[in-house]
Amino acid sequence: MEARRRFLGVTTALAGALAGCSGGNTQQAAADADTEPSLLGKVPSDYGNRSPHEKSKRTYADSKTPQAGSSRTPLQDSYGIITPNSLHFERHHAGVPEIDPAKHTLLVHGMVDRPLVLSVADIKRLPSVSKVYFVECSGNSGGEWSGKGAPDAQRSHGLASCSEWTGVPLSLILSEAGIRKDARWLLAEGADACKMARSIPVEKAVGDTLVAYAQNGEAIRPEQGYPLRLIVPGWEGNINVKWLHRIHAAEEPFYTKDETSKYTDLMADGKARIFTFDMDAKSVITAPSGGQKIAGKGFQEITGLAWSGRGRIEKVEVTTDGGKTWTAAQLQEPRFPRAFTRFRMPWTWDGSEASLACRATDESGYVQPPRQVLVEARGLNSNYHCNAIKFWKVQADGSVTNVEA
Ligand code: CO
Repeated sequence: MEARRRFLGVTTALAGALAGCSGGNTQQAAADADTEPSLLGKVPSDYGNRSPHEKSKRTYADSKTPQAGSSRTPLQDSYGIITPNSLHFERHHAGVPEIDPAKHTLLVHGMVDRPLVLSVADIKRLPSVSKVYFVECSGNSGGEWSGKGAPDAQRSHGLASCSEWTGVPLSLILSEAGIRKDARWLLAEGADACKMARSIPVEKAVGDTLVAYAQNGEAIRPEQGYPLRLIVPGWEGNINVKWLHRIHAAEEPFYTKDETSKYTDLMADGKARIFTFDMDAKSVITAPSGGQKIAGKGFQEITGLAWSGRGRIEKVEVTTDGGKTWTAAQLQEPRFPRAFTRFRMPWTWDGSEASLACRATDESGYVQPPRQVLVEARGLNSNYHCNAIKFWKVQADGSVTNVEA
């Protein structure tokens, strides 16, 4: 105990409190009387709630059209790699529909030999899998393109979350429907009022794509697509169609409004990229991060999240000196492909200003770039697909702020 305390350099306040206990348990008993109840507590509940002391919540960007809005995950408060269902980010184009699972169906038609209408109950009878995947809106970190950036991790990176999804491989449903060999693209359409729809290459659809009905051990929440949503691992969030009710197989992509007026990337020369599906490797330090304050000099773990749409995270490097030197962080195991990976690095803060950042490398060998490299390659016309290295500044008083990059 003594050796560990010295090694971590925990605050002198804690050491003092421990010393005060050495003469007996009087102080401890007095403290317990304040905080530990002597009366019976609450009875069990039928659906749990968190402690009233926990205040972490999604931020909701208010707008004139609130049903076409978004809310962001408080990544700065996250632990491990799983996002609680209550805190998973949302992005909607026509609000959250109220759907009765007993009446909801999935139609599979177009270039198939056996068109299908499957009920939710039908789908739940099929062989299922559970997989951990992140979902990230391609507009996540869009404000970072300008270099000004957002003041905290929630507003800079909170359009990304990670869950264990349970459902049926789409390949199974497509083979039951007898998808034809010359079908190259699928339309996936949602049952919300705007019929949000995206084109998906068959190659990805028969790869790792899931028709999911559960998230983190319970039914998918209405705002996440209840009762069925598509999970297209590692691809931009919008293509993970929620309230999935129709799949249409065809030779050509569909050029829906949701992939032409939105989710195309306007380059500096005025041409637009379309079907930019992969979310490239990215990472962010969640603690200490913008808006937080380090309590004082001494040991302070640096931790954060890294992810890549192209597979596993292989390496995360951390700098505390503004990018002059980089050190490999510890990666939490197991590391799932196309899922959040938690990284951690021990650090002793000496009380002086510091510039913190992290840089992810994925299994394809891709290394997360600085913002300037992205701007040179793609210009400043589009807000989509910003995966730039994110810096936080630790001020001498311990407060952590955004850095213009
Ligand atoms: Co894109």
